[in-house]
Amino acid sequence: MSKLGILSEMLPQNADGALIFSATNRRYFTDFVSSLGYLLVTREKSYLFVDSRYSEAAQKKAKDCTVVAYKVLSDDMADIISQNGLKNIMLESSAITLSECEHIEKIFAKANAAALKSNELDRIINTMRVIKTSDEIEKMHRAQVITENALRETLKLIKEGVTEREIALELEFRMRRSGAEGVSFDLIVLAGEHTSMPHGVPEFSRVKRGDLILFDIGATYDGYHSDMTRTYAFGNIGSEQKRVYATVKQAQQNALDMIKEGVSCGEVDDAARIYISHAGYGEYFGHSTGHGVGLDIHEVPSVSPKSDFILRNGMVVTVEPGVYLPDRFGVRIEDMVVVTSSGYMNFASMSKELTVI
Ligand code: GLY
Ligand code: MN
Ligand code: MN
Repeated sequence: MSKLGILSEMLPQNADGALIFSATNRRYFTDFVSSLGYLLVTREKSYLFVDSRYSEAAQKKAKDCTVVAYKVLSDDMADIISQNGLKNIMLESSAITLSECEHIEKIFAKANAAALKSNELDRIINTMRVIKTSDEIEKMHRAQVITENALRETLKLIKEGVTEREIALELEFRMRRSGAEGVSFDLIVLAGEHTSMPHGVPEFSRVKRGDLILFDIGATYDGYHSDMTRTYAFGNIGSEQKRVYATVKQAQQNALDMIKEGVSCGEVDDAARIYISHAGYGEYFGHSTGHGVGLDIHEVPSVSPKSDFILRNGMVVTVEPGVYLPDRFGVRIEDMVVVTSSGYMNFASMSKELTVI
């Protein structure tokens, strides 16, 4: 059954329709990419409303729905709602702004329909999206291969004096040249003391021997993201840098070792966090251990402290503990894995041994 078919069967009794706003969810259900559009799902069929910029492309590419090329959205949407006799339409609460909600409610009112404004629709869609199909996993695998090949090639170019920005640009160029649709996020390439900022931004500063260099990178392939972090030694590094690296590496392995169907995200987070705390660096690991990945770079579930969310076969999560010593240096190691009934399959294949470049 199509994804839209599954969604229409999951509509609760009190709803006869759902209106999907977010670009990723429109893409998830129709495979069609657009910056604006509205996907109206009913129990019988679905309609994708687009303006003239997208009408031809949507007619050709959007699947499992009827494309409505609107001139005046309020008229065309109200007509379809009336024709289908819809009375209660769910909204995606996480995707709509207050002013959009006001606009949509006026359209619904013209057709005597009401907006259901709970988070139920988001919950239903997340239940679907959190379990990846083999097709989605294949796309994420391709995104990962592109990412790793770009990193392998770029590592060979690094020499004293190149800037973080130049390295990030070389990586992005290689990803796009080998088939990436884009980057998963603004690539993070940090050297020396910049590595202490978990999501620092590459600058024009030059790498020098003795620095750690942290790469948090990913490509997108057909909409699907990869996400990987490796931290390398550029020349000889000091003993504390080595100790922190070994701590993060073991913490990451402990968290990976926990992963399998039936385990909670909180247990995975604990496995990394407790090890880092025992090594004396607990206060320097501030973020969650990981997150879901898919059409969005950050998705359900959050692999965070105390989370009782249970991992299931087919979920894709990252495992990315880090230790960040302010004004000194930081280390993060991140893999993206798919959960299986006996453990996990790691998308990443690049070594996590401390490597001198
Ligand atoms: N690069 C974003 C993240 O690892 O979550
Ligand atoms: Mn990352
Ligand atoms: Mn991540």
